[in-house]
Amino acid sequence: MTTDLTRLVETTRPRFRTATEFVEATLRAAILDGVLAAGAPLRQEELAAAFGVSRMPVREALRQLEATALVEFHPHRGAVVAEISAEDAADISAIRAAIEPQALRLSLPHLEKADFDRAAELIAEMDAEKDFGRMGELNRRLHMTLYARAGRPRLLTLVEQHLAAADRYLRFQFTALGYHPQSQDEHYALLGACRAGELEQACQLLTEHVLYAETRLTAFLRERETTAQD
Ligand code: NI
Repeated sequence: MTTDLTRLVETTRPRFRTATEFVEATLRAAILDGVLAAGAPLRQEELAAAFGVSRMPVREALRQLEATALVEFHPHRGAVVAEISAEDAADISAIRAAIEPQALRLSLPHLEKADFDRAAELIAEMDAEKDFGRMGELNRRLHMTLYARAGRPRLLTLVEQHLAAADRYLRFQFTALGYHPQSQDEHYALLGACRAGELEQACQLLTEHVLYAETRLTAFLRERETTAQD
């Protein structure tokens, strides 16, 4: 782990403005790419030494990663890479299905042609994308583009956190199974309803989009958990 992390530290250091950003982005990539496995301990002193920074930015970076469910703090063990499970995935999806349609409902009446065009570009970019990490980022930006005019910063912060938490699962699933084309059909249908100003239909399609993804993901994770127990 330490050797892999040291290599990452060397390659990513020059790209960041603050120590916290640098540590946060490097750890995020290491967790999403599986360099740091679920359950791996994240000791602040060791990380500070590996990154060549003080403990303050390490602590701050770990808190930010906790907010997107990549890191968990335990009373005695300290910070560890968050475990992944079918239950946790279902929990994240339930929250997404509750708050994203609400954000869309508030935002849609204020969206303009430029917003729809931006969303269309993002979907088209996803069609051409082969990198699953980048795909997750495009998906997040697409969803956030549609919610951006909700005028509720706290709601949008929550939405973004849970989209980011879902990302880890999607990335995991795509890597094992490949990208599911149905998600893209759902994105096109959702954007169509948004452009047409069909508020109820758009919210319905969005709810289904989140729940279909969950069904596929939970089936995959349960199978994986069963296989792991055999
Ligand atoms: Ni999506």
